[in-house]
Amino acid sequence: MEQFNLKPGMLMGTATAATQIEGGDRNNSWYHWCQTGHIKDGSSCLRACGHYNRVEEDIGLMSSMKLQIYRFGIEWSRIEPERGKYSMEAVEHYKKELLLLKQHGILPLMTLHHFSNPAWFEEAGAFLNPGCVEIFRDFTSFVVTHLGEYVSEYITINEPNVYVVNGYIFGEWPPGQKSFFKGMKVFKNMCLCHYAAYDEIHSVRKKLGFPGETKVGTAMHLRIFDPYNKKSLIDRISAKVFGYLFQDAVSDSMYKGKLRFPIGLTAPVRKARFYEFIGINYYTRDIMKGAKLTVREGAQTNDLGWEIYPEGLRRLIDGQYKRYGAPIYITENGTCDGKDAFRAKYIYDHLKAVCESDAPVERYYHWTFMDNFEWLEGEHGPFGLVRCDFGSGEREVRESGRFYTDIIENKGVTKEAVKKYLQE
Ligand code: BGC
Repeated sequence: MEQFNLKPGMLMGTATAATQIEGGDRNNSWYHWCQTGHIKDGSSCLRACGHYNRVEEDIGLMSSMKLQIYRFGIEWSRIEPERGKYSMEAVEHYKKELLLLKQHGILPLMTLHHFSNPAWFEEAGAFLNPGCVEIFRDFTSFVVTHLGEYVSEYITINEPNVYVVNGYIFGEWPPGQKSFFKGMKVFKNMCLCHYAAYDEIHSVRKKLGFPGETKVGTAMHLRIFDPYNKKSLIDRISAKVFGYLFQDAVSDSMYKGKLRFPIGLTAPVRKARFYEFIGINYYTRDIMKGAKLTVREGAQTNDLGWEIYPEGLRRLIDGQYKRYGAPIYITENGTCDGKDAFRAKYIYDHLKAVCESDAPVERYYHWTFMDNFEWLEGEHGPFGLVRCDFGSGEREVRESGRFYTDIIENKGVTKEAVKKYLQE
């Protein structure tokens, strides 16, 4: 393993989501999903990492790890506990968090929606509700008016494709529906919500004269779909179709204001460019055997059985840059490794893939800062650079976390770091 430098100017940090770390909120769709016995280990996001009451400590820890950037989410149900009724207490909380980040010189990127809905919105049909665009625009407007002074970079919606597939096609996530037709409708409405939020963030920040260049995008879950047998026409077509339906149709629709089939008619809704950066969340690849998703035989996998395929990240960066021509943010990349046995190597290989690409990758947010509530896996999906003991709340930086700090400090992987973290 050789040393290498990071791309000049590329900033490094971590990403989290409110529902996965905060704890203490009973007013969101995931709390209800946990209460009704859907989580494999029976745990609940009500506990998570207790981050809501430990913000100071956690940001202090980020700072001691030399993190330069932080992608985090706000819990919509805390900000707007009832339709049109806003909580200034929640606003003050997030304002304090943003000010702490500033004090430590950590640049924030705020996610408005990351899988979880306020209970009232879920009950009203969430993104199937004909009024959802207005509702989401109002929420965005309120957030940016009150917090926009302290944050200039935003992700409107995290992984609409994962939200729709799990919640409306497989029915494993809230609201537990299995309807392709409804799934496509949700996709369409999420696109419309993204356009509205994009406009709102820009116009409110401009109108109120908030500092910093406003940058808005989404974080799209992107996978590699490769054919099992390259000579098989069926496998090749299947890989293409899955890639199109799961990601390209959604990305194009979100970014270009043109709803692609089967999300909508291909006619433009309002043909425009709805992004300043392209957010890539990357974890793994699928091998298509006919219409079946499989894992490459003999591949190295993580604790959840996902193939570790670093080259996929470079392929996606190059593909997305060619397709959309904007700076790339790696908004999530990481692995589930409870023993911290291969995370350092995972980071090395994926960062190397990032640096080998010629595209302008400006940010790398490792998923994730600390072990958290990993949706259906509950408290058994340790993706953290920091180990979190859910019982005591104790945080402990892992060896891979120290490696990450070393990379940030040296703007790359040094010979000494290879020896210390990857060979010993
Ligand atoms: C999601 C995260 C999740 C991670 C690992 C991403 O799809 O945005 O919330 O924890 O994957 O499963």
